[in-house]
Amino acid sequence: MTSVESSRTRQRCDDCGNEIGALEIATQCPRCGGLLTLEYKAPAERGKKLRARFDARRAAALGYDVLASEVAPLDGSGVWRYRELVLPDATPNDVITHPEGNTPLLRRASVARWCGVDALVLKHEGANPTGSFKDRGMTVAVTQARRVGASAVACASTGNTAASLAAYAAQANLPALVLVPSGQVSLGKLAQSLAYGARTLLVRGDFDDCMRLAREAAEQLGVYLANSINPYRIAGQKTIVLELLQQLGWHAPDWIALPAGNLGNTSAFGAALLNAVDLGLIDKMPRIAAVQASGAAPFAASYRDDFRERYAVRAETVATAIRIGDPASYNRAVRVIRETNGVVLDVPDSAILEAKALVDAAGVGCEPASAASVAGVRELVRRGVIGRDDAVVAVLTGHILKDPGILLQYHREMEPPPAHANRPIEMEAELRAVERILASAR
Ligand code: F0G
Repeated sequence: MTSVESSRTRQRCDDCGNEIGALEIATQCPRCGGLLTLEYKAPAERGKKLRARFDARRAAALGYDVLASEVAPLDGSGVWRYRELVLPDATPNDVITHPEGNTPLLRRASVARWCGVDALVLKHEGANPTGSFKDRGMTVAVTQARRVGASAVACASTGNTAASLAAYAAQANLPALVLVPSGQVSLGKLAQSLAYGARTLLVRGDFDDCMRLAREAAEQLGVYLANSINPYRIAGQKTIVLELLQQLGWHAPDWIALPAGNLGNTSAFGAALLNAVDLGLIDKMPRIAAVQASGAAPFAASYRDDFRERYAVRAETVATAIRIGDPASYNRAVRVIRETNGVVLDVPDSAILEAKALVDAAGVGCEPASAASVAGVRELVRRGVIGRDDAVVAVLTGHILKDPGILLQYHREMEPPPAHANRPIEMEAELRAVERILASAR
């Protein structure tokens, strides 16, 4: 342990600058309670050389033989490929990787047209092993849990973090406790947590209650907390941005839009962009658009106030993943919006569902919260904040099958049928009926 302890990575408090070792377990700064960030020695290479290193690893991963190697295929992971900016001192034997990342950038004309911006691409994080971007943070957090010798891991979650932790803890042979708000987690996510074997606690309360409880459990019962206030989670999630920049040939887009709930991902995106500019991976700073659901929009309210005040609300939205009223990474996300000249907005559930229907009907598909980013892009184009010629990446954070309940409601049950509803057709077992339906479909 000493050799790693004396390594160059440290945890540094965002608020007071206090530093603690990389292997110390803390959910917050022991001195002032602020959030902790990982700090590392900068990689030896910069700019073109560092880009070439990451590009070579991506190319090498294509020829990787899974049977020939006993250690985790670090270069094949869309997280560990960028390890200098994630967790440089983890050795291949430390790492718990599925592998994850390597998610596609998709271009769909119908979605671009709806948003009113031609150069729109969708970064589909639903293509991760458990169907959401959480796997990128979780591979690092669970790797770290093992490095510090944790005996159990825990998280509060609206569902995706729980599913991801459950899967990675299973791979690492660690017991996992997941705390989710009872009756408010979508079917796919709940099913995953049970299937991967986590102790799944249905808390009578909302996400914010779960978060409080998880923090208390970490502080008083000694379980390792895998929420996004954990700096190792944030380090992993930075790779969503690093990977999309690499996929764009290291040409920075004008905008990156993402859904915002607990604000961990907004924080990770900001950290990645600062790294990328500082290290000369890209030559301009993209602007971040953080999009909340109108019924769960304390951060958007604060943005409208020029961040003079921090708000907490009772959250309500169909996008259960971001049904969060008092986001844990608030202060950090404020800094990110300032540093990237970003914007924060909220979109109503009706716009989220319409955006989702369009993404789904393009054959892409995503969960409701993910569609907030697309609805947000459309709204910002309408307001003239995003220019019609701007290059925009909208991040889809979760897979379409995460929330089959809302899908069936939308297509089968909502009255009157929404514009994009695709009602199922019940029929007799007769070819003539099939023929009639085929004729109307043509
Ligand atoms: N999109 C999806 C699909 C999510 O699951 C989440 C968060 C977000 C966006 C927002 O990211 O919280 O970092 O601002 N889900 C967490 C969870 C809260 O428990 O799965 P954030």
